[in-house]
Amino acid sequence: MGLLLPIDAVDRLKFLQLCAISFVTYLVYTSISRLYFHPLSKYPGPRLWAVSKLPDAYYRAIGRQAFINAEIHRQYGPIVRTSPEELSFNVEEAWNDIYGKPSTRNTQLPKDELQFFRPVSGTNGMIQEPSDEEHQRQRRFFAQCFSEKALRDQEPIMKQYFDLLIQRLHEHCGQATDLNMWYSLTVFDISCDLAFGESLGCLKNQVIHPWLKSIQMMMKLLPATGMTMKFYPLDKILLLLATPYARQAELKHRMFVEERVKQRLETQTPRPDFMSYAQETYKTPGGLKFLQICENAAPLITGGSEPSSSLLAAATYLLLTNPSILAKLTAILRAAFKSDKEINSVTVNKIDYLLAVLNEAFRLYPPAPVILGRVTPPEGCTIAGSFIPGNTVVSVNSWGASRSSTNFVRPTEFIPERWMGAPEFKDDKRKVVQPFSVGPRNCLGQNLAWLELKIILARVIWNFDLELCEESCRWMERQKFYIVAERSELMIRVKPAGLD
Ligand code: HEM
Repeated sequence: MGLLLPIDAVDRLKFLQLCAISFVTYLVYTSISRLYFHPLSKYPGPRLWAVSKLPDAYYRAIGRQAFINAEIHRQYGPIVRTSPEELSFNVEEAWNDIYGKPSTRNTQLPKDELQFFRPVSGTNGMIQEPSDEEHQRQRRFFAQCFSEKALRDQEPIMKQYFDLLIQRLHEHCGQATDLNMWYSLTVFDISCDLAFGESLGCLKNQVIHPWLKSIQMMMKLLPATGMTMKFYPLDKILLLLATPYARQAELKHRMFVEERVKQRLETQTPRPDFMSYAQETYKTPGGLKFLQICENAAPLITGGSEPSSSLLAAATYLLLTNPSILAKLTAILRAAFKSDKEINSVTVNKIDYLLAVLNEAFRLYPPAPVILGRVTPPEGCTIAGSFIPGNTVVSVNSWGASRSSTNFVRPTEFIPERWMGAPEFKDDKRKVVQPFSVGPRNCLGQNLAWLELKIILARVIWNFDLELCEESCRWMERQKFYIVAERSELMIRVKPAGLD
């Protein structure tokens, strides 16, 4: 006997079948057109990534995008398709063509707006500002704080924290301690002091301030939440669901920043810091508005602290896992300086090997390797010698570029000598290493970052003999990158120099 169903149940079944058939037809049609008839069809890459945005979104959300893209480059070559509308490059010419102003074009490629949510205040700081003119205007106010003279003037402020770091490490001698945390506290204290006129006392109290914790959490969530904009209307649903919690967190963050910026702007001080120049002009026509200063203060602190502490932790780890290089750097530093008081921004520049160690750490561990997408103009443009169709999101995969055997000899080994003219490495493409990006929107704080990195690493190595603890032996392999690295503890046994 046949199965008897009431008429409306049969209709419902047919409707569901129709929906399923339509969905499958849509998937097949979209896949075929993206694979064979799309302007990016000729670019190699995994097929699933060419037909769907999901794989890229997934790896972005779990902090593995830099690594997986590097692997795609290894398999498929220097220009690869990593999403239906996206191409990734790992060749040196791509840096200037994507992030700079090459001679073939007189405008910058705009940032991919579907990467991160816009600030809730509705006011853009320079990092999110889409208009090039407004970006340049804001950048000019802060650029003055990073000139050589300004940094020389700021050095005494920073020195207090360098000294306190060394004191804290002396107090932890003989024990295993988390050097990653100490580096984080030091640069965070410096950034807050230079932005707000006072630190949050992290090194003094030996604790991570809750604001730093919430910044680290925000940086972790930003790529995943931003990605939802590529899956409209998922972004709207997410905003709706997360609104009460996100509003509260955002409000707390904003109040924290606004209060401190207000206090700093009301304080008249001859002290040179990040706010000095904004303060001079903020109540004048053409000066920065209060909210614009606030929107720039937070990135100056986060951008100014997390990547620098990441790089310091990575450089220390790489030295400890390459004992002959550590021994060489230690010998050079201890021969060059009789006391660590002699180590400052001028004297440290004499140590070429220290610069080579840091450059090599930047190569193996670019602290902000998450793809910084830019969009090609509607008429398309040339990148790294190839014509790229319009409205394509393009980026350089710095992690993959640095570790590619097409760019470097012995690419995964830590060899500072490649930065010092050693003949074996004469064909290395060193310009592919651009941890601070290039062009009009590159890192504004790179001079300050170099100063901190050189002095802190030199003073730590000069003062202490370090030994990597067993539990941190695979520290680098365990990293995840969101905007910057989510780093685990870097446990190190510290001893005063030369005490065996
Ligand atoms: C090792 C340390 C650092 C690394 C690797 C780094 C990396 C970068 C990168 C890749 C960008 C470009 C982002 C984009 O295209 O959206 C950037 C922008 C920026 N960085 Fe850094 N940074 C470091 C340290 C610092 C420091 C110490 C400061 C200041 C205290 C700073 C302030 C900024 C600012 C304000 C921008 C935005 C510039 C603009 O939009 O014009 N950074 N940084």
